[in-house]
Amino acid sequence: MADRARVFVTRNLPGRAIDVLRQAADVEVWPEELPPAPDALRKRLRDRDAILSLLTEKIDAELLEAAPGLLVVSNMATGFDNVEVLAATERKVLVTRTPGVLSETTADFAFALMLAAARRVAEGDRYTHEGKWKTWGPETLLGVDVYGATLGIVGMGGIGTEVAKRARGFGMRIFYTSRTRKPLVEEELGAEFCSFEYLLRESDFVTLHLPLTDETRRMINSRTLSMMKPTAVLINTGRGPLIDQENLYEALKDGVIAAAALDVTDPEPMTSDDRLLTLPNVIVTPHIASASVATRSRMAMLAAENLLTALRGEMPELAVNPEVGEAWKARVRERFG
Ligand code: DGY
Repeated sequence: MADRARVFVTRNLPGRAIDVLRQAADVEVWPEELPPAPDALRKRLRDRDAILSLLTEKIDAELLEAAPGLLVVSNMATGFDNVEVLAATERKVLVTRTPGVLSETTADFAFALMLAAARRVAEGDRYTHEGKWKTWGPETLLGVDVYGATLGIVGMGGIGTEVAKRARGFGMRIFYTSRTRKPLVEEELGAEFCSFEYLLRESDFVTLHLPLTDETRRMINSRTLSMMKPTAVLINTGRGPLIDQENLYEALKDGVIAAAALDVTDPEPMTSDDRLLTLPNVIVTPHIASASVATRSRMAMLAAENLLTALRGEMPELAVNPEVGEAWKARVRERFG
């Protein structure tokens, strides 16, 4: 039986999460700004019990194969499309995630992007920096109003619900799609459930808040873009591959829709020579929707707590694959008693 668990953390984290881990385990933290390359990760995981990973790490079957002692993958994110969950389940490795604690912060940012694109904030800032501001012009940088407009929320989970709350404050009409209807959101926030196609046709702003799966991959493509209003603005704080970026480029260039604001891209990072960045009606930020000090610290702490709970052989509430069940618990008991 091993005494202290051996944990690998793939980057330095804000807040006290690493201190908390260190109280209970031997912890190695990858010290660099860039994530460990696959080889380095493989090497580190050879004899580890657990990894605290970020969405930048690909935790696939090959890596898991090279980590026979791994018991837990604690992913510090709501999304877990970077983890091959089936491969983990097959090997009786538990996967956990950190939803909930970032909903408000991410919704704030989705709104920031919506306002910025509608009111041309980034363009206005460039205009000033470039010395183009010569006078107050009655037609300078005219945008569209957010208040009173129609918002389409695609995916009404925790983040979508927080976006709806904010939209209500702006007097917006809210349409939404979701796997299941949300009676509370309908009653309390006046959101109207509808089909994806209807939402695209009717909305002035469309914001994406759903996980990346085989069904949602490239759900925004030339076909669905052509259903949107030519004045519509698309906001994405979910995952980059929800959108076919080539199709989006063509749509923005040809005026099929008016603007897009993306916090997530495909791939990430977006390179500075990406064609989308040549368009004035595109805002791109580097996947920072949850990036407030408080929220990232909470995410890190939750990831640490998930990991430590799991290493005690208890099933964390935020397990992605609780079906690993007894066989996983037996593996933990065998190692730590
Ligand atoms: C998540 O948690 O999935 C976010 O994308 C990280 O900000």
